Amino acid sequence: MAGGFFISKTVGIVAIMLGLGAVATIIALSVVYAQEKNKGVSDVGTSTTASPGTNTTARPGTSTTTPAPNNPWNRWRLPATLKPEFYEVSLQPFLKPDANNMYIFKGNSSVVFMCEEATDLILIHSKKLNYTMQGSFHAMLQAEGGGNAPAISRTWLETPTQYLVVQLDAPLQQGQRYRLSSTFTGELADDLAGFYRSEYTDESGNKQVVATTQMQAADARKAFPCFDEPAMKANFTVTLIHPSSYGAISNMPAKNTREQVIDGVTWNVTEFDTTPRMSTYLLAFIVSQFTHVERISNETLIRIWGRPKAIAEGQGDYALNVTGPILNFFEEHYNTSYPLPKSDQVGLPDFNAGAMENWGLVTYRENSLLFDALYSSIGNKERVVTVIAHELAHQWFGNLVTLRWWNDLWLNEGFASYVEYLGAHSAEPTWNIKDLMVLNELHAVMATDALASSHPLSFREEEINTPAQISEVFDSISYSKGASVLRMLSSFLSEDVFKQGLQSYLHTFSYNNTIYTDLWVHLQEAVKKNNVQLPDSISNIMDRWTLQMGFPVVTVDTHSGTVSQTHFLLDPTSSVDRPSVFNYTWIIPITWMTGTGPGNGTYWLTKVTDTTTSFRLNSPSWLLLNLNVTGYFRVNYNQENWDQLLKQLDANHTVFPVINRAQIIDDAFNLARAKYVDVTLALNTTRFLSQETEYMPWKAALNSLQYFQQMFDRSEVFGAMSKYMHKQVTPLFNYYKTITNNWKDLPSGLMAQYNEINAISTACSYGVTDCQNLATNYLQQWKSGSTNPVPPNLRSAIYCSMVATGGEDAWDFLWEKFKEAHVVYLQYTLDPTKIRKQDATSTINSIASNVVGQSLAWDFIRGNWRTLFTQYGGGSFSFSRLILSVTQRFSSEFELQQLEQFKKDNQDIGFGSGTRALEQALERTRANIIWVKENQATVLDWFENEVKSR
Ligand SMILES: *[C@@H]1O[C@H](CO)[C@@H](O)[C@H](O)[C@H]1NC(C)=O
Ligand SMILES: *[C@@H]1O[C@H](CO)[C@@H](O)[C@H](O)[C@H]1NC(C)=O
Ligand SMILES: *[C@@H]1O[C@H](CO)[C@@H](O)[C@H](O)[C@H]1NC(C)=O
Ligand SMILES: *[C@@H]1O[C@H](CO)[C@@H](O)[C@H](O)[C@H]1NC(C)=O
Ligand SMILES: *[C@@H]1O[C@H](CO)[C@@H](O)[C@H](O)[C@H]1NC(C)=O
Ligand SMILES: [Zn+2]
Repeated sequence: MAGGFFISKTVGIVAIMLGLGAVATIIALSVVYAQEKNKGVSDVGTSTTASPGTNTTARPGTSTTTPAPNNPWNRWRLPATLKPEFYEVSLQPFLKPDANNMYIFKGNSSVVFMCEEATDLILIHSKKLNYTMQGSFHAMLQAEGGGNAPAISRTWLETPTQYLVVQLDAPLQQGQRYRLSSTFTGELADDLAGFYRSEYTDESGNKQVVATTQMQAADARKAFPCFDEPAMKANFTVTLIHPSSYGAISNMPAKNTREQVIDGVTWNVTEFDTTPRMSTYLLAFIVSQFTHVERISNETLIRIWGRPKAIAEGQGDYALNVTGPILNFFEEHYNTSYPLPKSDQVGLPDFNAGAMENWGLVTYRENSLLFDALYSSIGNKERVVTVIAHELAHQWFGNLVTLRWWNDLWLNEGFASYVEYLGAHSAEPTWNIKDLMVLNELHAVMATDALASSHPLSFREEEINTPAQISEVFDSISYSKGASVLRMLSSFLSEDVFKQGLQSYLHTFSYNNTIYTDLWVHLQEAVKKNNVQLPDSISNIMDRWTLQMGFPVVTVDTHSGTVSQTHFLLDPTSSVDRPSVFNYTWIIPITWMTGTGPGNGTYWLTKVTDTTTSFRLNSPSWLLLNLNVTGYFRVNYNQENWDQLLKQLDANHTVFPVINRAQIIDDAFNLARAKYVDVTLALNTTRFLSQETEYMPWKAALNSLQYFQQMFDRSEVFGAMSKYMHKQVTPLFNYYKTITNNWKDLPSGLMAQYNEINAISTACSYGVTDCQNLATNYLQQWKSGSTNPVPPNLRSAIYCSMVATGGEDAWDFLWEKFKEAHVVYLQYTLDPTKIRKQDATSTINSIASNVVGQSLAWDFIRGNWRTLFTQYGGGSFSFSRLILSVTQRFSSEFELQQLEQFKKDNQDIGFGSGTRALEQALERTRANIIWVKENQATVLDWFENEVKSR
């Protein structure tokens, strides 16, 4: 061998695999961005059509030097002068490109609005639409019910703030209705926003086009001119003009379809029933050749739509089966009938978010709605049922009753993220899926919320104005912390009382808008009616959790019964710049148990420090706080109580509820990172795992140890850690081997199936020989037979092991199989012209999750941020995840410098929705550097000792 260059074969193969994958992806992304760059000029185009006047000083946006004048059309929010009541919208998408090779749609629409306050100015949202001028104006104005409307003096498009501006000669009269009508053309682009185009390849290899919509948060204005704010509710009558071989669906059922000849071509014109009063962001229209399966459940027509092949293969059946029970559950939960005559759900090949709750026409990423029983894992199934439950929960909470403005988004999304678990439980009652909320939402979001750069759940209305600011609100704090604090509220009120308040809120505000405190008012009434004892009003209790960021760690001393709270910060040296009127103290509901039994009721910690006999132990026993982790806080104890808890875990861990076994691990590791306890205490909480078979504690431990892996997998600690993990996981692996009858049977239940996957992936990656043999045997079987012998659940774990142990041959074989199979992900990563935009960030994320891939992904992002950012705009939801995932291993001064340089280099164009994530990454990296320095020696010792002595 020439040179001094040797790496093990395994490492080499993995590196090559990831290298190839990453390189392919990077090429793919570059191509996509280049294509985008060459064609996208529509923004500029519209502004050219836009400006009739010569008064450019009044309209900034192009000029960066002059400060923005304060004309109504320079402000992002609509004035309160006009209220829309009724729209008639007719849209005609062309599913073939025009002479300029552009996909377009034509439309005309009119809106009837009430003048609430005399004004000579009409502002209506409009984005990237080209208007057919009516005389010299973009629109036409009439008075409703006879009478004359004032004459229009001029109209123009105010591109920066996305308005069509209509200036009148004389004011509109208060109390009078007017109708504004216009005719326009828009591009049916593949930009996943507004009225857009999605493409897929059918079974004969032909390209098929779907016209579909994504209006949230601020893109209804890209489909037709509208008062595009959630509080501007109105009734809508939608008409779609479509080729007769394509179906058309919208929020409401079709009222009639007729044929009409337009420019010598016969089209079908489908008119839909008028919607109830609703927000623009919930509208949806789809023109496609999709097929569906359907069923009538409780008088509601349920239809599941998708690509004809997928539907024919039965991939819509699972969604169809669970939708009825979930709708029934929510009808009962809300004590309100499903508000619409039908429920359509559509799986789209191209879709940005996981799903969108459009009223009566929910859209999904294909893999969040369709389920292929032959190829998909239990994880896919869980995703389908929880996403469906989430979106159906919004049909009432969010759609029927809507928050007035995006600053309160956390209530809408937090609520749906909470009740999705309840809804999914109603469809899969044997899964214990409600428990998963603690891992998936609460523990996950605490990691972010423990940073000094976190933010409160609730924003003030005037803080959120631009579309970029709106999209930044869609983060894990809104979803997962929102869900966690609502679960806490429901739990200290009891679910029944919570439901009563919720139902009264929904009945009161149906078809209208609210602010979050309206919910508190109705819950308070329920509290009064049921005589629930609380230390303060709901509003005062909840303000602590919603108006200040972060959460407390509750510390108990079981000698004295002293209990106290402090703001929990992962890096205790970081400074909190954001002031809080509550000084970072909370009103905390605490449940507990001791070695002699469960505690009595709820203890409320309302001060910084208090003493209670409930938490004082006389005999040697243990105390455990926060049963089932219904409270959004962490717990720390005096050393002696920790020792007692550890002793109990070793002796008989099943005394603790399974969620609390996960809690002890997660709390201990996080307390160790924040230096409340020694790192060895945290590591000690993983000792009992050699006897644990439940999923939740294992997952909590694997998540916690992942940090150790990330910090140390490039150092000597990793060898000792591997031996320890090998020792701990071997019993779990053997347990599953036995209960599955040597891997032939499926364990029963969701959690057991998940933990079987943990057992295999952990055992194989830490070198349990039996596990690696299992993978090798599967590979042999597969090579000699034609069908894939690996059960769908185990595929990703087994494939990794096959490649790790099987070398190049295994890799080549799997590669061929992947290419043959209908795996969406790889298909598109391999073909640079086909990578889907929706997958771009998740592709980089998955590469970044690996030790080799991470530095590649980071280099790519550093080198291409400008392109990434300018092409995908400040409006994409995924920049924050992107930054967090590429920087998760950062733990050296060098990486910190790179990150700081990255921030400096791109300061001028900015980071959009990734702004906060970048600050968090900087903070996290600094904390990691210190942590590694302080803990490396101790951790190495601990692992070496464990492997030696036990
Ligand atoms: C331009 O518009 C501003 C604000 O409406 C007005 O003050 C100014 O006089 C106008 N200038 C011209 C040249 O029309
Ligand atoms: C809108 O007008 C601009 C400028 O004329 C043009 O470049 C663009 O293609 C038009 N868009 C549509 C959808 O017709
Ligand atoms: C188009 O219209 C004709 C006549 O009304 C009708 O028979 C046909 O079903 C329509 N096609 C679709 C896809 O709606
Ligand atoms: C508008 O919606 C409301 C329900 O919000 C309904 O009562 C009313 O009939 C609708 N108006 C029209 C014209 O359909
Ligand atoms: C209809 O829905 C109600 C709840 O609103 C439920 O109690 C009932 O069982 C459902 N009926 C059927 C046939 O599913
Ligand atoms: Zn949602």
